[in-house]
Amino acid sequence: MNVKDDPLLHWHEGLAPGQRRRDGELTVGGVSAGELAETYGTPLLAIDFDVLDAAIAEFRAACEPHGVEIAYAGKALLLVALARHLVATPLSVDVCSIGELVTAERAGFPAERIALHGCGKTGEELAAAVAGRVGTTIVDNADELRRLADAAAGARPLPVVLRINTGIEAHTHAFVRTGGDKTKFGISPDGLDEPARILRSAPNLQFAGLHSHIGSQIYEGAAFVENARALVRVAAGLDRLGFVSERLIVGGGFGVQMDPGDGAGLNLKATIAGIASAVAEEAWATGVRVPRLGIEPGRALIAHAGTSVYRVVAVKRQFGRPFVVVDGSIADNPRPALYGAYHHPILASRESPATQQTVLCGRSCENDEIVVAPLPTDVQPDDLIAICTTGAYTYSMSSNYNRFVRPAVVAVQSGRHRPIAKRETIDDVLRNDCDA
Ligand SMILES: Cc1ncc(COP(=O)(O)O)c(C=O)c1O
Repeated sequence: MNVKDDPLLHWHEGLAPGQRRRDGELTVGGVSAGELAETYGTPLLAIDFDVLDAAIAEFRAACEPHGVEIAYAGKALLLVALARHLVATPLSVDVCSIGELVTAERAGFPAERIALHGCGKTGEELAAAVAGRVGTTIVDNADELRRLADAAAGARPLPVVLRINTGIEAHTHAFVRTGGDKTKFGISPDGLDEPARILRSAPNLQFAGLHSHIGSQIYEGAAFVENARALVRVAAGLDRLGFVSERLIVGGGFGVQMDPGDGAGLNLKATIAGIASAVAEEAWATGVRVPRLGIEPGRALIAHAGTSVYRVVAVKRQFGRPFVVVDGSIADNPRPALYGAYHHPILASRESPATQQTVLCGRSCENDEIVVAPLPTDVQPDDLIAICTTGAYTYSMSSNYNRFVRPAVVAVQSGRHRPIAKRETIDDVLRNDCDA
């Protein structure tokens, strides 16, 4: 295909989000936005498996020299076909519901490569762990541990990892060392007596180690390093009580570049190396054996692989502001409305040089501004607009608000495309309505 280089499209080391053909149309994974829109309808979410593979390779290159294990956090995006792609890699998968577990199972993930997360596990989820459908269960709190112990009585030994709230809270470019994390997650380091008592009285729960996840979109390697050190200190305390942490899982949250104009993301290699050496140093200082390390990135593996394509349905100027209304909404991507996530917009159907600051918004009955960013002045109804970095937490958080159908998810790779989730029909939306 005849393509030309556009620096704005050539960011995240050339991986996101696509290229322009000679005629100016955007291609994603080598497939033109127009062909995708024609074939699958809009809105749609295209996942470029080459970009996903490159992200996996980047993580492996950073982790393998330090023996750090990688589990993909399925909550970012989990579909059977995507999970099947991951089965062929050395990655494990984290699930936090029966739905995510069954998705991983149908893709062929063996139990030993599945970890069960979730901060309020249901009886059904605990029973799945007891039945041996997951290799590790990460337990969030003492009540959950007690319920698991009860459910596991008489069952075969069950490896458990305790989720610790180290008090380190990290948000984007800032983190707080102690007392910062006021969230519901995990067990505080001074609250381990009860879990230790439960573990002692439940010989078939095998204590395997500790876990801590401190937030999302973290761009400061120091926050991860600080969290890992804190976790080793907690492990040392438990070690003195006779509970040896063979594993330390230091969470996900690795920051992803969302805006081509806003610097690079986190230095992954340096961050992983920093975590590994801090853990070794702290283990030596506290006299514990150096544990096996694990991370669980979601967003950083899948976000850049995703590009959403919308069709423009209206263009207007209100109160001095130009608005472009597309056929997407808060239903297919709630992230901008939920927490102000930025997705870089691109006119996908053609090229047009003169731009103006534009409000790109959806068509739901909410003030669903997707992004305020430069877009060409001559955008018209029927044009296609792409927004970047939508692989993570968009489809997985999507809804049927306004009874809109969920979009198709399409795998694109080297000029080929195939659906990995069908676009819903109105019958899908109504399928649970009684008397419909
Ligand atoms: C326990 C846990 N691990 C991993 C992740 C993945 O985080 P991210 O997608 O930011 O890497 C999350 C996200 O919420 C999480 O709660």
